[in-house]
Amino acid sequence: MGPLTRGRATRDHVLTPLMAEYHAQRASAGLIISESTGISRQGLGMPFAPCLWSEEQVEGWKQVTAAVHGAGGRIFSQLWHRGRLVNPDFVVGAQPVSASVTTAPDHAHTYNGEKPYAQARALRIDELPGLIQDYRLAARYAIDAGFDGVQVHDANGYLINQFLRDGSNHRRNEYSGRVGNRIRLLREVTEAVVAEVGAGRTAVRLSPNGAIQGVDDSDPETLFVAAAACMGSMGLAFLALREPEPHGTFGTSNVAPVAPGIRKVFTGPLVLNSGYEAPRAQAALDDGRADAIAFGRAFRANPDHPHRIQDHLALTEGNVATWYKQGPKGYVDYARAPG
Ligand SMILES: Cc1cc2nc3c(=O)[nH]c(=O)nc-3n(C[C@H](O)[C@H](O)[C@H](O)COP(=O)(O)O)c2cc1C
Repeated sequence: MGPLTRGRATRDHVLTPLMAEYHAQRASAGLIISESTGISRQGLGMPFAPCLWSEEQVEGWKQVTAAVHGAGGRIFSQLWHRGRLVNPDFVVGAQPVSASVTTAPDHAHTYNGEKPYAQARALRIDELPGLIQDYRLAARYAIDAGFDGVQVHDANGYLINQFLRDGSNHRRNEYSGRVGNRIRLLREVTEAVVAEVGAGRTAVRLSPNGAIQGVDDSDPETLFVAAAACMGSMGLAFLALREPEPHGTFGTSNVAPVAPGIRKVFTGPLVLNSGYEAPRAQAALDDGRADAIAFGRAFRANPDHPHRIQDHLALTEGNVATWYKQGPKGYVDYARAPG
């Protein structure tokens, strides 16, 4: 089950019992990737999103991981820093941070409705060790909270993605310019997390092609094949890719998929995602393009999605209006298929 932000934590970003129930209902996925989870106040910009920087949050997550384990599943925590995709409302008026001085397009969800993003400032080089430490600590907290591992969120236009791609990284130092420099932060964060919790409990998510949340690259194939090769040398638990498909949530992309090139250089387990339904997923496994497929939206209204695939049962559509809404409606009230 791929990561799905659902907005059911408290206003202070602490877990609720509802979240334990929701995740336990979906434990037959085998492995659940948690929704994006804030590693620091600086990197959090989503109402009612969960986080992992306080004791209270760790205690809250313990209920979720215990419920999932009790139901026979496993769960990784997705570690998240939104970079420039943080409205100043979330950080007491402070400027959001990014690779460079840029402004994200569109609007942020805030507690006071939609608001435009503010211009981000470039993270100073002397701030990067602290940032890497935030990832490391969040990984430690995740393991303390009972997670089976962590997935570093390097996809979808968030902070590390902003460093990776030349559309948003215009720095002039060793974290910018040539590909080896732009993947430096990804490598250093991953190395820190691996050092803290072990490579076998560390995964990475990348979204190699197509502009996402205003972040794009002039040569995604070269960039992401190099990034994947770098990740491959670390013996990670797996590498998860999100590549746009016709029905993907970020729309279509005319860019050729990078996954085949990544498959050649990343020799660990590769998980593909976006827009898959069962037959195409099976085909991707059968012809060796992937070792696993992550399903996202299908799990929202089908807590027993694997059972439905196996027995060729119809899928429930689900209500888009309750994606990010607080409360149980559209969250824990989807029934399992009979049988
Ligand atoms: C409501 C919603 C929330 C999402 N939240 C996250 C998230 O927290 N982290 C992430 O990496 N991707 C997130 N995604 C992307 C999904 O993980 C997945 O890549 C996307 O839905 C495409 O896969 P699918 O076609 O199987 O749904 C989200 C997508 C949706 C629809």
